[in-house]
Order: sequence, then structure tokens, then C-alpha cells
Amino acid sequence: MNTGCNSAPLRLASGAAAFLMMASGAVFAEEAAPPAPSTDVPWAERTVELGSTASMPEGVLQKDELLRLIGVGEALFAASFTKLDGAGRPEATQAIDPTRRKHPREQPFLRTAGPDGGSCAACHNTPLMGGAGDFVTNVFVSEGFESADFDSLDPQFSNERGSNHLFGSGLVELLAREMSRDLQKIRSEALAAARSLGEPVRRALVTKGVEFGFITAEADGSVLLDELDGVDTDLVIRPFSQKGVMTSLRQFTVNALNHHHGMQPDERFGARWTGTDDFDGDGMSREVSAADISALVAWQATLPAPTRVVPVVEGWNEAAARGEDMFGALGCADCHRPHLPLESLSFADPGPFDSAGTLNARQVKAPGIYDLELLNWARDLPRDEQGRVLVPLYGDLKRHTMTDRQIDALGNELLSQRFVDRNIFQTSELWGVGSTAPYGHRNDFTTLDEIILAHGGDGRKARDAYAQSPDHDKLALIAFLKTLVIEP
Ligand code: HEC
Ligand code: HEC
Repeated sequence: MNTGCNSAPLRLASGAAAFLMMASGAVFAEEAAPPAPSTDVPWAERTVELGSTASMPEGVLQKDELLRLIGVGEALFAASFTKLDGAGRPEATQAIDPTRRKHPREQPFLRTAGPDGGSCAACHNTPLMGGAGDFVTNVFVSEGFESADFDSLDPQFSNERGSNHLFGSGLVELLAREMSRDLQKIRSEALAAARSLGEPVRRALVTKGVEFGFITAEADGSVLLDELDGVDTDLVIRPFSQKGVMTSLRQFTVNALNHHHGMQPDERFGARWTGTDDFDGDGMSREVSAADISALVAWQATLPAPTRVVPVVEGWNEAAARGEDMFGALGCADCHRPHLPLESLSFADPGPFDSAGTLNARQVKAPGIYDLELLNWARDLPRDEQGRVLVPLYGDLKRHTMTDRQIDALGNELLSQRFVDRNIFQTSELWGVGSTAPYGHRNDFTTLDEIILAHGGDGRKARDAYAQSPDHDKLALIAFLKTLVIEP
């Protein structure tokens, strides 16, 4: 994708700077640059952007600084990582917590337990870079450290997931942060009330109109969490992965680099955490710096939101309008909320809710702040009367049970993930769904009609209402969904 920004590094690391100075013929008598190592040439089989951002962005970035950082991130997302970059992890598994393999493995790629791709873009490319992926890009997600080294497609070992798109994901993370803050505020207010009243206080957990059950605070400062609905016990909304178990783009990027490429970010696999700077035993150290991760995050977080385009085809406009009404009337919009209101477009990275193994705001002097308002696509988003941005995601960032005794097509997974049961998934954000066939968490439904009919459990009522609708109404709903697209 061309974001219209040049991909020059934000700040050059000393090696690269020295190389550029020599290349441009500059002579510095006092500070003689050391001769560039012979491998430090643009045509060497390395990703030159790695390490090219010398320091973490700090404070509010000016537009040109932001565009430069995004450019580096875009190049890193597209890069096919090589052995010389540190690709491969002969002695480490894909597990999120740094985990050693029981038996070192020499194959650079393995379709099941990974590494399973040359670049991020190898999977995220439909309809363009940063997008979704076809069934062929599915990933075998395994949270179990014991079984992390599987070479089987048997669902006892991993959950097979399709690649989803990343457009608008900065807005998704910002929404999740504001919602987490709201929920945690309700918890502290309930605790304060219980303490002063000397009796239990039960409060509804509602943020941006989405209900996450109830919390009861006791006078002794403890909280009862058995009425939570669709959110973790720490009340942090985790908007990423189709399971809704990953906190931030930063966390996902660190996971993905290790899992898919065997590129180990310092902030999780470096000496500080693991006691060695070559945890994966591939002979390379300091494979991905924290600043490299920042660049990747900046590119993903600033990808434009998907849009709505009605094809210029007679009748489509009317059909889509009818379909949009149906979407509300059938109850689809109860989960796939057409928009959620966002207070602020300031994206801070590292963010507030990450914990050990992903850099967070408390571990840096000052996070980098990317003002999405600087970008035309974000400025053009609709706002409500209070000035809040209406993020048109068609989602609620909440997890729901998606199977019941009759309808269980989405109950194909056997393993729970991070304490979330096997048949529970986060509402898919439907923006972009017109550009990202096939569908479902395993990417194994060829039509929108099939995935809608696969909604069981909490989605059953809406699904049945759809199933009972006349054919022309069903088609109108499809006409509407197909207008939710990712545009170049
Ligand atoms: C082999 C295919 C593959 C490669 C390579 C890959 N991804 Fe993904 N990506 C996926 C799949 C599959 C999912 C969905 C995972 C899930 O739902 O559990 C995903 C999900 C994501 C998400 C979460 C999106 C959301 O809305 O939930 C992010 C962010 C992401 N990938 C970033 C990256 C980055 C950055 C890279 C490169 C470092 C990368 N991916 C490389 C397949 C891939
Ligand atoms: C109870 C909440 C809920 C309701 C109601 C609901 N959905 Fe969903 N929807 C989900 C969840 C959760 C998923 C993710 C399912 C999966 O793949 O695991 C999903 C997935 C989808 C997908 C697939 C998206 C993709 O990219 O693969 C479509 C399309 C969809 N829903 C449309 C609808 C329509 C149309 C309705 C109304 C008839 C509806 N949904 C009602 C929760 C809901």
C-alpha cells in the first residue's frame, strides 16, 4: 500500500548513518566514520529498515516525523525477513511467553507451529497490504506451552484461525483503552461506595452503551466477578485476535514477529527478560529493537478505517438501504454496533494496559503520541454533537458464546485460549467485510449467508430472524454488507 509517505528512517542508527554519510561523500575530519562493514550495503540480504530508527519516538510527533515513522513501519511490514536479520528460532517455540523447544529444529519454516511466513504482508494482503488473508494464510494458534511444538493439524493441538484485516485498528485500540478505563472507574467507584456504606454495592458495567455484566464490591475491599459478561476479570478490553484476548497492536506485533518469523523482539526475548541475547539460538542477537516495534505499530495504528462504497449498479443503493434497516431490525446491530463513540484520537505507544513482555507506558520516559487527527481519513470521520468521533466498526469489542445445541458450526475449536472457552469469540468488526472473503474465524465460509446462518448461542435469535426472512430481504442484507469495504 502506498500511504504517500517516504520511507526514510526517522533517526538513523550510527552504522546506517555512517554508511549514508560515506555514500553521500561527506567528509568529517574529526569524527572519522569507521569503515562500513562489507555486509552493510543496500543489496545485502538484510532488511535495511531494521535498527534504522535509533530511538523510541517520544512525546507528540510532528506530522513529518510521524509520516517517516509510518514509512519505516510499512517497509518492515512488507519485508521478507532473512536469516541475516535473525529470522528463524531453532531453539524457541512460538509461545507468547519465551519458551525453549525440547528438541532444536533446523527447518526454517513449518506450516503448523511456525515460523510460517516470510513477511507480515504474506498473510495480511487482501485486498491490499494490511488486509486480511485467504484460507491459505490460516495460522495454527497454540497457547499451550507443552504442545507448542506440534506438527499436526489435529485440532487437539491448535486452534486454526483465518487472517483478519488491520484497517482502522488504531481506532479499535483507542476505543478499547477508553472502555477499559470506564470499566475500571466503575469498579473503583463501587469499591468506594461499599466502603463508605459498609455494605455490598452492585454496579452495571456499561461503557459506550455496551454491557459487560455486573460487578459487586464488598465493604472489605474485595470484588465479586461472577457476573462479568464478555470481558476479563481485570476489566481490560482486549480487542485483538478473534478471541478477543490480545491487548494491543504492540503486544500482537511482538507475538507475531516471534511466531511467524522467528524474529525475536528485544523487549520480550532480550537479555533483560531471558538472561541471554540469543534466546532462539540462531546465532543472531538484538533482532528487533523497541523502536522497530514502534514503527510497525505506527504503521498499523494509522491504517485508514474501512469505508462504505455502493457499487454503481442499478438497484444496489435501494437494496443496501433496505439491508441496513434489516441489520438493525433483525438484531445484528445489538452486537455489530454500527459505531462506537471515541473521545480522543491521540494514540500513545507504548500503551497503558500492556504487562510483562510488551513495553508499556510505565516503562518509558514518555510514550510517543501519534495524533491521528493529522491524517485526512481520520479528520473526515463523522462526529456526534459532543465532538466524539463515531468509529464505524460494526462491532462491540465484547466476547459472546456462538454455539448452542442445534447450531454449532463455530464450535470447531477444542482448546480454550487464555481462560476463554472454546465456543466464545469476540464480535467481528464488520467494517471491510465486503473486501475480505472468506469468512468466520477459520475463514472457511465462502458466503456471507453461510456465516450468518452459523451464528448460534447469543447470536441465535438474530440468525433465526434472518433465516425466516424472505429471500429478497436476505439479499438486501448481503447488498448492505458488501458496501462495507477497504478502499485503496
Ligand atoms: C502466517 C500468516 C500470518 C502472518 C505471517 C502474520 N499474521 Fe497477523 N494474523 C494472522 C492471523 C491468522 C490472525 C488472527 C489470529 C487470531 O484471531 O487468533 C492475525 C491477526 C493479527 C492481528 C490482530 C488483528 C485483529 O483485529 O484481531 C495483528 C495486529 C496482526 N495479525 C499483525 C501482524 C504483524 C505485525 C505481522 C508480522 C510481524 C503478522 N501479523 C504476520 C496471520 C498472520
Ligand atoms: C450475539 C452477538 C452477535 C449477533 C446478534 C450477530 N453477530 Fe455476527 N458475529 C458475532 C461474532 C462473535 C462473530 C465471530 C464469529 C466467529 O467467526 O467466530 C460474528 C461474525 C459475523 C460475520 C463474519 C465476519 C467475518 O469477517 O468473517 C458476519 C458477516 C456477521 N457476523 C454478520 C451478522 C449479521 C448479518 C447478524 C444479524 C443477522 C449478526 N451477525 C448477528 C456476533 C454476533
